[in-house]
Amino acid sequence: MASLDIVSLSKTLGTHAILKSVSLNVPDGAFMTLVGPSGCGKSTLLKIISGLELQDDGDVRIDGMSVSHLHPKLRDIAMVFQSYALYPHMTVYENIAVPLVLRRLALMARMPLLGKLMPGTAAVRQKIDSDVRTTADMLELTQLLTRKPVQLSGGQRQRVALGRAMVRDPKIFLMDEPLSNLDAKLRVHMRAEIARLHKRLGATFVYVTHDQIEAMTMSTHVAVMMEGEILQVDSPQRIYAEPADIRVAEFIGSPKINVLPGRVREDGALAVPGFTIAGRTQLPTGSQASVGFRPEHITLAQKGVAAPSATIINLEHTGPEVFVHASLEGLGAPLTFKLEPHQAMHLASGDQVGLGLSLGHAHLFDAQGKRAPFMQPVSEVVAGEVRYG
Ligand SMILES: Nc1ncnc2c1ncn2[C@@H]1O[C@H](COP(=O)(O)OP(=O)(O)OP(=O)(O)O)[C@@H](O)[C@H]1O
Ligand SMILES: [Mg+2]
Repeated sequence: MASLDIVSLSKTLGTHAILKSVSLNVPDGAFMTLVGPSGCGKSTLLKIISGLELQDDGDVRIDGMSVSHLHPKLRDIAMVFQSYALYPHMTVYENIAVPLVLRRLALMARMPLLGKLMPGTAAVRQKIDSDVRTTADMLELTQLLTRKPVQLSGGQRQRVALGRAMVRDPKIFLMDEPLSNLDAKLRVHMRAEIARLHKRLGATFVYVTHDQIEAMTMSTHVAVMMEGEILQVDSPQRIYAEPADIRVAEFIGSPKINVLPGRVREDGALAVPGFTIAGRTQLPTGSQASVGFRPEHITLAQKGVAAPSATIINLEHTGPEVFVHASLEGLGAPLTFKLEPHQAMHLASGDQVGLGLSLGHAHLFDAQGKRAPFMQPVSEVVAGEVRYG
């Protein structure tokens, strides 16, 4: 097993800077998930780590040793892609055995007739056989070893692809959206399988996904990438609860965080459309800032309490909860918040409601979109103003 260090990697294709000095430390045994919008450079980064593509600048290190000049085959890294890329004419057994056969048997020894006559070949073949069977066993593929890929379901094919990566016992696994071709139910199943596999192998994983639930549930670490840069690396919990950048806050979480544009007043309070959040923000007077509330941190205000007023646009009943979309005067986009079904029972489109904002969960961002702390904890709500401190 191994740690992986990506040090100031840069890559430009044509005039397009695809990776802009990306650095990332993946500790030994970590499950690092890379998330980010399409085109932000995730696959390019994985390809450079594996050696399939070359960087313009920077270094890739495994256990502290540079591997940038090593051929992909010598890096001890396995890569699993979105398309399973199995050999259609080979059985499951042969597909899993391929990397071992290529590695352990010389060209002559691979030939059916000649190989049998070569000394030592039998022992190597026996070891390959036992490694293939152990791997198949771990992935519950033993019953399927004689089948061809066309006779398998999507999930089974993906397990074969995993098996082919695992059988070499690599130090590091790179997976590029391995579940995105599967239907929703199978994804949930395979998600659990991969998480279990990670625990069992104790290997270092770098996993790319578009799926936030995958990122949040499987990983020990999440790296959020945008436009060729890594914006934040943290535990899944902290990425959600303490986004370092407004782009991270907006990318992670569904429904999306509600962002209100604001301006810092002389007294340090933040003026947002329709109301003011009092208290000192530490940001320069007059500067632009934004405050974000996740949907679960907005509720209906208590009766008789001064609160920002919004008009309900529509209600979405999902079963266990209700998403309320409401418009706040002066704010272009609607706000979204979550209620329990009993709280939403008497609400309808067009109703005016007071918003109860959970100020202790407010996320403040400066004009550059970087996280800024609120100075003081919430203590009171004052008429016309939602007050801090
Ligand atoms: N051969 C190439 N020549 C020019 N630009 C390229 C080339 N390959 C990729 N790109 C560009 O590099 C950027 C990063 O691509 P990459 O495939 O790494 O993105 P990604 O984050 O994996 O996206 P997705 O989530 O859609 O898979 C994209 O803007 C893409 O258009
Ligand atoms: Mg990609």
